[in-house]
Amino acid sequence: MAKLTPNNLIRAAAKARLSAVAPYSKFQVGAALLTRRGRVITGANVESASYGLTCCAERVALFKALTDGQKDFIGVAVVARVPGGAMPCGACRQLLAEYAPDAKLWVADSRALAKVRAFTVRELLPEAFLDVPEGGA
Ligand code: THU
Repeated sequence: MAKLTPNNLIRAAAKARLSAVAPYSKFQVGAALLTRRGRVITGANVESASYGLTCCAERVALFKALTDGQKDFIGVAVVARVPGGAMPCGACRQLLAEYAPDAKLWVADSRALAKVRAFTVRELLPEAFLDVPEGGA
């Protein structure tokens, strides 16, 4: 079981946020995932001139982790410079519901890292679409 506290994970997300590539919005977001075994995987948002191709910090962290063979996520932290912290967008909620369903979510404003708001991934996306039905004809 991981010993990392929510505050430590928030700090990891705050550090990752500094690596954001956000030349268009200038809105930097950092995310950090915690696995049951105590591994921390971070990510930051990456924007594109073709705006829709932008990838949020949460998904960058998730894609890094998954393609590195990591699983069993028990926590995800998100840090951005916004009062109360940034909540994951709908696309990220879907991916988190699929790949980190048991994780807790901690969010914080980068200017007030000690003030952490806690949620669960499950509560973010009720009635999630999680399984593709077989034989879809
Ligand atoms: N963004 C994230 O990275 N995560 C969120 O939870 C909200 C939005 C990014 C996407 C884009 O680069 C910028 O914030 C503005 O929407």
